[in-house]
Amino acid sequence: MTEADRRYRVIAWGTGAVGTELITTIIDHRPDLEIVGARVYSADKAGVDIGTLVGRGAIGVAASTDVDTILALDADCVLYTPRNTSIDDVCALLAGGKNVVTTAFLFHPQRTAPEDRERLLQACRTGGTTVHGSGLNPGNLSGVLPLALSGMSRTIEQITLQERADWSVYDSTSITFDNMAFGRPVADISPTGTEFLAFNSAIFTEQVWLLADALHAGIDEVTATVDAVPAESDHQIFDRILRAGTTAGQRWNWAGRRDGRTLVEIETLWTVGGEYPKHWPRPRHGWTLTIEGDPSMQTHFFSLASFSRDVDMAEHVRSANVATAMQILNAVPAVCAAPPGFATAATLPLIRSHTGFNNR
Ligand SMILES: NC(=O)c1ccc[n+]([C@@H]2O[C@H](COP(=O)([O-])OP(=O)(O)OC[C@H]3O[C@@H](n4cnc5c(N)ncnc54)[C@H](OP(=O)(O)O)[C@@H]3O)[C@@H](O)[C@H]2O)c1
Repeated sequence: MTEADRRYRVIAWGTGAVGTELITTIIDHRPDLEIVGARVYSADKAGVDIGTLVGRGAIGVAASTDVDTILALDADCVLYTPRNTSIDDVCALLAGGKNVVTTAFLFHPQRTAPEDRERLLQACRTGGTTVHGSGLNPGNLSGVLPLALSGMSRTIEQITLQERADWSVYDSTSITFDNMAFGRPVADISPTGTEFLAFNSAIFTEQVWLLADALHAGIDEVTATVDAVPAESDHQIFDRILRAGTTAGQRWNWAGRRDGRTLVEIETLWTVGGEYPKHWPRPRHGWTLTIEGDPSMQTHFFSLASFSRDVDMAEHVRSANVATAMQILNAVPAVCAAPPGFATAATLPLIRSHTGFNNR
């Protein structure tokens, strides 16, 4: 059997917005992947067929809330997309012989907290497995794309990725309100303000280190700062109300610095509620990547469900989930083939669409 004929047994750990795109893609487009289990968190999803859960026909495999049931399954790879991550669970999966691809964290585990890094590495060695974190951003746009463009660079002076996103249209309000802390007092928003904000800041910090390490920037620190801006009036955001005076804008900046000079930078201009702070820059929606160097390059990225068809807003928004999900799903064979340990955009081969035009 050649690598191209190989079938992979996969587990979906998380069946939210991203997990649903993973599962529907496997059912609709990926005969080389077999879903053997799904880890769910909501009791009402337990025991439900995974196909039914995502609006497809039944596939004969039931979702489970029981971690031991999932750990006992025989699988090549786990598609790990929970809202909140667990190093314990990921280490158990890796040590048990299951590779892990995730959109949630571990984008550059070499730069994660040393105690976590050692535990993860030991689990990979025990199980002979590999873990890879990627997605849209963090992921392709802050890893794969800059590294790919750098192939045209003679020298680099500075890399900046600026993300402008209006999260009002993102229908996971548990992520925007509970995790990202929109609607909370402005004073709560800092790199250590809540457990999730600290976690989120750490993953973008890791992403800056990834580019800096891969491109020999020799930085000595990554700083994290944020400007949080209150709403002027109330806004209904799906099932929540964003109250006037609470956080409606977050401008984060992660700067990788060498001797105080910023060499690699990720900046986000995030809003919920449709107001826009007057003192912020006004880039186009999406992501603008600027590489200052020889030569200097700039590219702007945004995704839609279609540039030609008439599509509703919800589908356009969903396209970012598709992109996020595909970056890890397309990576499954490469991650399964990688040596045990950590795999990143800097170590894996270029991840391409498995299905593509589908005219084999
Ligand atoms: N790298 C990137 O570019 C990128 C982009 C988008 C998202 N993400 C990340 O990808 C992950 C999935 O995002 P999403 O939009 O799919 O989120 P989501 O729609 O909110 O769903 C996430 C999953 O979290 C599960 N969950 C519920 N309670 C939980 C708990 N206490 N602990 C852990 N998980 C719990 C849900 O399970 P039930 O459905 O069973 O309740 C659901 O399957 C998140 O970590 C998100 O931050 C990354």
